[in-house]
Order: sequence, then structure tokens, then C-alpha cells
Amino acid sequence: MESKPKMENSFEAKGLRSHYIANLSLDDVGERVAICGWVARVREHGEHLVFVDVRDRTGLVQVVAHSSVDLRSEYVVQVNGLVSRRPVGTENPALATGEIELVETEIEILSPADPIPFSVQDRSEVDEATRLRFRYLDLRRDRMQENLRMRAKINSAIRASMERQGFTEIETPLLWTPTPEGAREFVVPSRLHPGLTYVLPQSPQIAKQLLMVAGFDRYYQIARCLRDEDLRADRQFEFTQLDLEASFVTQRDIMSFISDAVIAASAAAGISVDHEIGEITWRDSMDKYGVDKPDLRYGNELIDVTQVFSETSVRALSAPCLKALVAPYPSHLSRSKLDDLVDRAKGLGAKGLLWLRVVSDTDGVRLDSPVSKFLTDQESKDLIAATGVSEGDVILIVGDEWAKACQVLGQLRIDLAKSEADPRAYKFVWVVDFPLFEGVDEDGRLISAHHPFTMPNEEDFPKLDTDPLSVRSQSYDLVLNGWELGSGSIRIHRRDIQSKIFSLLGIGSEEANNRFGFLLEAFKYGAPPHGGFAFGIDRLAALLVGEENIREVIAFPKTQSGSDLMTGAPKEVENKVWDLLGLSVRPQKKDLS
Ligand code: AMO
Repeated sequence: MESKPKMENSFEAKGLRSHYIANLSLDDVGERVAICGWVARVREHGEHLVFVDVRDRTGLVQVVAHSSVDLRSEYVVQVNGLVSRRPVGTENPALATGEIELVETEIEILSPADPIPFSVQDRSEVDEATRLRFRYLDLRRDRMQENLRMRAKINSAIRASMERQGFTEIETPLLWTPTPEGAREFVVPSRLHPGLTYVLPQSPQIAKQLLMVAGFDRYYQIARCLRDEDLRADRQFEFTQLDLEASFVTQRDIMSFISDAVIAASAAAGISVDHEIGEITWRDSMDKYGVDKPDLRYGNELIDVTQVFSETSVRALSAPCLKALVAPYPSHLSRSKLDDLVDRAKGLGAKGLLWLRVVSDTDGVRLDSPVSKFLTDQESKDLIAATGVSEGDVILIVGDEWAKACQVLGQLRIDLAKSEADPRAYKFVWVVDFPLFEGVDEDGRLISAHHPFTMPNEEDFPKLDTDPLSVRSQSYDLVLNGWELGSGSIRIHRRDIQSKIFSLLGIGSEEANNRFGFLLEAFKYGAPPHGGFAFGIDRLAALLVGEENIREVIAFPKTQSGSDLMTGAPKEVENKVWDLLGLSVRPQKKDLS
């Protein structure tokens, strides 16, 4: 017996149809059925007959109709017909329903369609502005249907993982007050309190900490977050996080909750992560990969060669730190490509980039480079040994302060290897032991690397006053293929430590009270030790379905410049709206010109 083509989730057809298209098969031959959907294609077929491909969310089937029916692409139809085996030789093995067709049909047009601006039937390239302008048509295409359905499965797997691990889903407000993530905020003017505003949350950070004070113990939410920041491939104004917080736990516990969720999400997308997710310290990540979000699909670790040139007379090699990279795919590196790399390194802020090609001749292996004649034999030998290179390899060296040398070479490593990385390989990694502070602002105030509620590493408490920039924090990131998926930390629940951190950040007690007074007050009434994490579902979904931009997993995203090409937002509002809010708008420059 023939097996039916299966819909992934079989559910009963109701209403205007008896069957979803994917559920039609040879088993139904001889049965009268009703299907509903869109006309995918109309083909004339001899006298008085047309073949009409009809598509619904599950599949496509051939309908044989009378040519008197006036049908065009994307018309919405209901077809009543008899399921029939296609004549021998006319089957279409590429189609799940390719052995059958509907005959003796009655077709009702439920809704006609104007000619559409691009085909929704094939995967041909359509420029993105047109796709976004007619997003509802773009969403009809296979790629977006598959992406959004997969995203829903990923969400569902994450929810199941959270529930399994004893987390309670709680919604937190969107009309809120500033949160501490540090991006610019979207503000919402209040009608009832003219001149006052709500702030849309950059994350549920403070609310979830209050839920810990409230005793919920394990909270999670698939949370919408809003940040007014410059948009990029991995950033939108609005995005979604899996946000969680738990009490009486360690960093390891949080990492294990999150690992379970992302492994379950990957499995839902058909990707098996069969290993425990490894970890690397922030310091090692910078040292080896020059970034805090290493792409582990390729090797080529940076190598410290400072010692090799400790006695050098070459100016370009006299630097506090010398980092070397054995270039991936050295055969791609022609002389002009190497010159481009030097420019790229300078563009990234390096003073220069040295390259050395390993060649061999009758005298053995040697280094061919604009600087090679200034190197001693010992230096060349030590460099070859330290980098483990052989003939044909190219060594790239940047000399600078440690952080700069790592960053520049780390970026070159990505530039050179990324396009060759396996898009179907998934390398998760935890980055731990981030510094508590990422630097100092122009007023000499320390800047939080994560946010001001992050607990310092207890071993480093004594260094808070003496060497704050070397203090590690109890914070951790999850990275996948070079993208930061998420971040989290153990929070400060003790008031003395929180005051200390606020004072180091230059947040006076008045400012602290203004911004976070309600949280600090809550902490007076019995705050459990707690910590949490959030990862970007848009980013995870994009990576799992193999897309390079999170717009491809978002139904109605904004363009890079923050517009919605379909609705025209952002738009002007009528003056009476501003009046109601007690606001007025200053004439914009373009109005004055
Ligand atoms: P963080 O600010 O690191 O941490 O954000 C967590 C994750 O959210 C995603 N993300 C974004 N995705 C798309 N567009 C954006 N504009 C955007 N901004 C952030 C990223 C990021 O890693 N409250 C803390 C978490 C915690 O400590 O529990 C927080 O929000 O994937």
C-alpha cells in the first residue's frame, strides 16, 4: 500500500476544506475532496482544459479545470474535485502529490488578485526593498514560510525546556522605566501625565530581579525588548530574548539551564549538538582569537611571538605585544591581497602589519618578506618554530598593546576564514570570566562591561580599589559561530557591594535612587542570591536556519535605517496628538531649508 505524504503535524481540515493538500494521496483516489488555497500556476492544456497548480500552507496539487474558468496567479480559490491517479507517464516525482490530480472540478474564486510584483513561487532573488514593501507576499515564499515555522518550533522547544526545568513564565511590563543595558531608549509620552514618559524596556532585567525578591525562584519569558541603537545584520530595534532568572544558584547552574534550552532549540531545527558546550575564559578568547565571541568553526589561533623579537632592532617589531597569525588559505594571498591586508589592518587601528611567506630553496626553508633581511637567523628560526609553519604558509604579525594587537589580528582571522567556514557546523561556546569593567569614560568613571548589578568575582574583591580594570566578574556569554547569542551574570544582592560598585561607576546615591531606587528598596526586604541570562531568539533562529541577517526570521522587520517600508512607519502624527500629550515638535532642519 502507498503511504500518505505526511504533514508534519497532522490536524484535521475544517471549514471550507475537507483536506490540506499534503494529506492527499493515492489512498484518496475516487474520493471527492475540497481544498482551499492560492493559484500557483495556470497552464493551458489542449482543448478547453487548463492545469492549475493550487498551493496551501502544506503543499501543492495539480487541478484539472475547464478553460472557461478565468484564473490567474495568486487568486484565492476553493476547489471541489475528484482525486484521480495521474495518467501513466505524467506523474511528477518532484512533487509530494505528484501521482494524483483533482479532476471533475468546480472552482470557486474566493478572492481575485492583481498581478503581483514578484513571483512567490520560486527562489529567484528579489531586491530586499521590494520584499519588505510587499512583506505579506514575501512571506508567502517558501524561504520565509520555512523560516518562520522553524522559528515557532524553536520557541516551542525553548518553552518546553524551561517548563521541564521548573521555570514559570511571567510577563513583565512594556511601559516601564529605564533599564541598565546601556543602549538608547525608546520613550513613550504619557497622556495623563503631560511631559512625563514611560520607557520601553531594553530587557526585563530589573523586573526579573524583583521577581526573585518576590520568591518565584525560577522565572522565564520569551520577552520582547526594545533598543534604539544602530541596526545591523544581527540587530533590530525590537527583538526577542529568552530571558531567565533563578535564585539560590551558581553560574554553572544558569549555564546548564541555558545549554539545555539551546540544545533543545537546535534539535527542533534538526541540528544535533551532541557534546557538552565547552567554555573559554574571556582572556584566553582574546589571546587566541582576538575577540570575545570566537568562531570556533575554524582554528588558526593567534600566537604570541613577543619573546621571539625581544632583542630586535626592527622598529615595527618593537612593541609591547606581538601577535602572529598563520593565515588560513595562504594560496589565496597574492602580493596585492597582502597589500590589501596591510591597509585593512591600518583601517582597524594597527600601525601596520608584517607579512612573511615561508619559501624553500636550496638553502632550506626561509622567510620571504619586506622585513626578512632585517631579521637575524635566530629570529627567523624561532618564528618558524613558534608558529609551526611550513612551506607555502604566510605569517601575519601585528605589534601593539595587547588588546589592540589581539583585536586587529582577530579581525583578520575572521576576514580570511569566514567565507570558507562550514555554514552547517554549529560551534557553541561559553565565554566566562569577563572583566567587570570595560574601560573608563572621558570623566574618568569606570564603565560596566555587562550592567551595574553584576557580581564581581569574589577572589578579586580586594582589587576593586587597587586595580579595578583587572577585576573579573561572574558574568558569561554564550557564543555560536562568532555571534554573541546571549549574556548573563550572577547579580549583586548585598547592599554594601552594590553601593561600592555604584560609587566606582560614578553613580551617586541620589542618581542610584532615582534610577534604581525601587530595586534597591526591594533588596532591603530579603533578596535571595540570584542570577540569570538572556539570549537573542532572533539570532539563534537565524543561525539555525542558515540565514545571515535576523530580518530573515522576523515577520515584519525594519530596514537598516529603521523604517518599515510596508506601513511607512515612522510617520508624522497630527498636531492634536502632540497637544493631547502636552508636547510640541521643533521644526526639523529640512522644514527650515
Ligand atoms: P544583553 O544586553 O547582552 O543582556 O542582551 C542579551 C542578548 O539579546 C540579544 N540582543 C539583540 N538582538 C537583536 N537586536 C538587538 N538590538 C539586540 N540587543 C541584544 C543578543 C544579546 O546577546 N538583561 C541582560 C541579560 C541578563 O543579564 O540576564 C541583557 O539583556 O543576542
